[in-house]
Amino acid sequence: MSRRVLVTGGAGFIGSNFVHYLVAHTDDMVTVLDKFTYAGNEASLAGLPVERVTVVRGDICDAGLVDRLVAESDVVVHYAAESHNDNSLHDPHPFLDTNIIGSYTLLEAVRRHGTRYHHISTDEVYGDLAFDNPERFTEHTPYNPSSPYSATKAGSDLLVRAWVRSFGVEATLSNCSNNYGPRQHVEKFIPRQITNVLCGDRPKLYGAGTNVRDWIHADDHSSAVLRIIERGRIGETYLIGADGERNNRAVLEAILTAMGEPADAYDHVTDRPGHDLRYAIDSTKLREELGWRPALQDFDRGLQRTIDWYRANEAWWRPQKAATEARYLELGR
Ligand code: NAD
Ligand code: DAU
Repeated sequence: MSRRVLVTGGAGFIGSNFVHYLVAHTDDMVTVLDKFTYAGNEASLAGLPVERVTVVRGDICDAGLVDRLVAESDVVVHYAAESHNDNSLHDPHPFLDTNIIGSYTLLEAVRRHGTRYHHISTDEVYGDLAFDNPERFTEHTPYNPSSPYSATKAGSDLLVRAWVRSFGVEATLSNCSNNYGPRQHVEKFIPRQITNVLCGDRPKLYGAGTNVRDWIHADDHSSAVLRIIERGRIGETYLIGADGERNNRAVLEAILTAMGEPADAYDHVTDRPGHDLRYAIDSTKLREELGWRPALQDFDRGLQRTIDWYRANEAWWRPQKAATEARYLELGR
């Protein structure tokens, strides 16, 4: 049965991949609500059928607009966010506006209209794990965010839980690990390094590069979110991950090798303040309760496809590159 799905942040990296995934795998009608900040890109929605996808340019903090769009929807999937840790260390204010007030605005609208709501969040709400800690994050790990970004994501998760308990809002939450794939902004680690190589510039590794991230392909994130929307229990949180732990140096060396460069052709730059050491997701609950499995677990193959995508889509990333590197220059990274 066709649903009317409102996707906030649908012009960003993971949101746009989700919209492409929904169009390919369901009969749903999709409305994208996106402010088109520096991270939103019209080109990420190119080629989608206009009879199934409507794009609305607007702010999730605009209560009137949000109320109208929620009233016309069966399901809201909330991706919109300020998403980059480095930016949050430089200027936290937009993170508070969008991640806290924007999420609150959506929650009030779904509460008024009794609309099913799915909240997209991150494993960063749990803080980090020591390198020698054999544990991984589970749904029971206490919240302990490190950066302004992750603190605002943690705050919005807690708002969702309160709206479920106090007002009976029909919500589910998911906390996912680091995504990679096509259409990711060049400020993020993997696309920054790929496009540096394509521009003839040296990649930049923060600190010693021993920090570990747990990589998942964006399409696997999308399939998990769709499964939770369709079968998840109201009020529950599901962790999404694909057992993809790797340290940053190994990922960078894999990129350089795959692109035909010497594996050590990069620079070490100043580390990120408060840099989380390691993230690792235990997604047993999602797998056992909802029967979800990742389909794209071969990281080297996924990385090669991602490199190919950036090679073939220079027109998508080139307009963002100079301004992004100018921002990094200011930050000394
Ligand atoms: P992104 O920065 O690529 O995209 C964010 C999108 O939100 C952009 O299109 C932007 O224009 C839009 N947006 C920002 N402020 C808005 C506002 N006030 N109103 C409407 N639209 C607004 O981010 P992403 O990496 O795709 O992340 C999407 C979501 O997934 C975020 O909630 C993030 O916390 C979460 N998440 C990301 C990752 C990851 O690895 N990138 C992992 C887990 C969870
Ligand atoms: O874990 C999920 C989170 O993953 C999401 O919630 C965030 O929205 C998303 O941005 C991502 O956060 P990270 O901070 O882990 O991602 P980022 O791509 O910024 O950096 C990944 C790792 O690479 C991190 O350890 C910092 C390092 N890094 C990053 C950049 C941009 C470098 O070494 N060099 C770089 O140039």
